[in-house]
Amino acid sequence: MNLLVLGGTKNLGRHVVEAALAAGHELTLFNRGRTNPELFPGVRRLIGERAAPDVLAAGEWDGVIDLSGFLIRDVSLSAALLRDRCAHYTFMSSIAVYASKTARGMTDSAPLLPWPDGAPEDEFTMDLYGPSKVRCESLLNATFGERTAAVRSGFVVGPYNPDFGNWGWALAHGGSLECAARPEQPIQYIDARDLADFLLRVTVERSPGPYNAVGPTRTMTELADAWLAAAPGSRTVDWSPATDRFHLPHDGSNDGTFQLDNSRAVAAGLRLRPDAEIARDYLAWLQAGNIPPDPPH
Ligand SMILES: NC(=O)c1ccc[n+]([C@@H]2O[C@H](COP(=O)([O-])OP(=O)(O)OC[C@H]3O[C@@H](n4cnc5c(N)ncnc54)[C@H](OP(=O)(O)O)[C@@H]3O)[C@@H](O)[C@H]2O)c1
Repeated sequence: MNLLVLGGTKNLGRHVVEAALAAGHELTLFNRGRTNPELFPGVRRLIGERAAPDVLAAGEWDGVIDLSGFLIRDVSLSAALLRDRCAHYTFMSSIAVYASKTARGMTDSAPLLPWPDGAPEDEFTMDLYGPSKVRCESLLNATFGERTAAVRSGFVVGPYNPDFGNWGWALAHGGSLECAARPEQPIQYIDARDLADFLLRVTVERSPGPYNAVGPTRTMTELADAWLAAAPGSRTVDWSPATDRFHLPHDGSNDGTFQLDNSRAVAAGLRLRPDAEIARDYLAWLQAGNIPPDPPH
């Protein structure tokens, strides 16, 4: 297929591009040419800004995978240009879209966050991350109808990605797994390769969204035990609050965010590799001399 990827050169996007190339798709990447410009030298590039995507005004695609959409202004520009020139538009969204942070078992159709009164429309802040993704999804639904899918994930783990980077580093180079979350904190995450495969599948199969693209819920203790088992030697978990890189409240007020129902995504073909394989592969990547990027926030 002839696919257009908006982004594709930093974290998750690299896996999407690698998966698409491995599957034999013809690819075009749209980005500013700043992040890792040396990657994928044989792949066609359209250089441009999300805020001025004129270069997208020509060409036709079987599918678009949007990895760099945050602002409603930017997504509305690309949607208007691509509406009649792509068969399907897949949007990388987030589990931050849900109105409730405590309800358990939220499906993809659970209520979403409202747009805060008076919030600025054209500057990105982390406070507006969830509401912005909601607005982008809504705009795309209005533009593409059944020809769009929002794919919602939270922690994305693996090579080139920052999440759980400190755990991987500790396993590879010594030290304890820092985790200030409660031992019984529910947690869901996904391997970046599984997420990339799912984004590609949804696009190629033109499946309408939205989807909760997350793994099964386990406790932090269960997850840490699985990762510890993947590494030789005896490491431990440091539950001290001072170590927190997970940004999870300790009063349970965000527990619902990590007890999402992923059954619709699984039915649509989401494959989830086991924790042991995720940890082992990530460890091998770090032991080969790679360094995890810093978390964005
Ligand atoms: N934990 C997670 O990582 C996580 C969780 C849930 C959802 N998500 C979502 O996943 C998506 C993927 O993020 P990613 O960083 O991994 O994607 P990525 O595709 O690997 O990297 C971002 C890409 O966007 C391009 N870009 C950045 N700013 C741009 C601009 N103003 N105009 C044009 N292109 C621009 C960058 O290239 P240039 O710099 O060269 O332009 C780069 O190719 C995001 O939408 C994020 O919200 C991530």
